Amino acid sequence: MKCRKCSQKAVINMRQHKLALCSVHFHQWMIEQTQRFIEKYRMFSPNDRVLVAVSGGKDSLSLWDILWQLGYAVDGVYIGLGIDGGFGYSQKSQALCEKFAEQRGLKLIVVNAPEKIGLTIPELASVTQRGKNKPCSVCGLTKRHILNQVALEGNYTVLATGHNLDDEVAVLLGNTLNWNVGYLYRQSPVMPARHEGLVRKVKPLCRFYEREMAAYALVRGIEYIYEECPHAEGSTTIYYKSLLNQLEADRPGAKLSFYLAFLQAKEKGLFASTYDDEGVGAGGETLYTCPSCGGPTTVEGLCAFCRMVEKVK
Ligand code: AMP
Ligand code: FES
Ligand code: ZN
Ligand code: ZN
Repeated sequence: MKCRKCSQKAVINMRQHKLALCSVHFHQWMIEQTQRFIEKYRMFSPNDRVLVAVSGGKDSLSLWDILWQLGYAVDGVYIGLGIDGGFGYSQKSQALCEKFAEQRGLKLIVVNAPEKIGLTIPELASVTQRGKNKPCSVCGLTKRHILNQVALEGNYTVLATGHNLDDEVAVLLGNTLNWNVGYLYRQSPVMPARHEGLVRKVKPLCRFYEREMAAYALVRGIEYIYEECPHAEGSTTIYYKSLLNQLEADRPGAKLSFYLAFLQAKEKGLFASTYDDEGVGAGGETLYTCPSCGGPTTVEGLCAFCRMVEKVK
């Protein structure tokens, strides 16, 4: 297979775009496409101070690499979660983020969640849920809270995450199967700051397939953690991803068109009559201010994160 632009050997064939590219032209294409998506969805401009949330995985480190090459003012943040899984998952991820930042002379903020809370994420889960469930939901709550707080405290105007198309489509399928209208209304490449104390969130990689991100990391020689979080095993998201991979194998482009058609339908007003944007939360609720952290909350009083921390104290 030859590169469409220069006839050198192609490193990737993107069937959904009918496009094969060599490493040089694939690199260039990824950078240009990302800039296009940033503009198309009005994610941010060169005047913004961008904070990218890095997990040590291929998507978020590649995102940081791309935004850096595009010339944006972009710092990184890594949250230590205290997850081991028998191979030092959190430790290894942090070391890779630090190495990445050091090699490029970029600023990385490291926040150690167990130091803040007094417990690791798995410990926190076993205390708050009596060990019944996976730690993923308390982990998600903790990450969202800390990321937003770090962005606000550092006067960043945007928080960028490395969610790729496969991630977004798996979430979309789950929300559609349950007709979770509130979440569908909220799922978007850009989440505006709906309330004081909330920072704008963007997903510049939301139109790239996971295999494109893996190819990008390879082409750029980015060292990242191959292992998934040890708690992700057996998750519904992984199940949806495998179903979607079967669909994609039979119909190249199915994931992308499912996602793009969803965004278009929303732009035309699907769900909009149910959920008004003015001062109203994703589930249609009014948002209040948490008296402890100043963050937004759907009920009056402490936010979900502060309530959880209060409970374990
Ligand atoms: P996940 O929820 O693990 O699929 O991760 C989605 C995105 O959240 C990643 O692409 C990162 O941008 C961000 N993220 C995940 N884990 C961390 C972490 N430990 N520290 C900072 N950001 C993270
Ligand atoms: Fe949080 Fe896996 S990354 S539980
Ligand atoms: Zn080429
Ligand atoms: Zn709070």
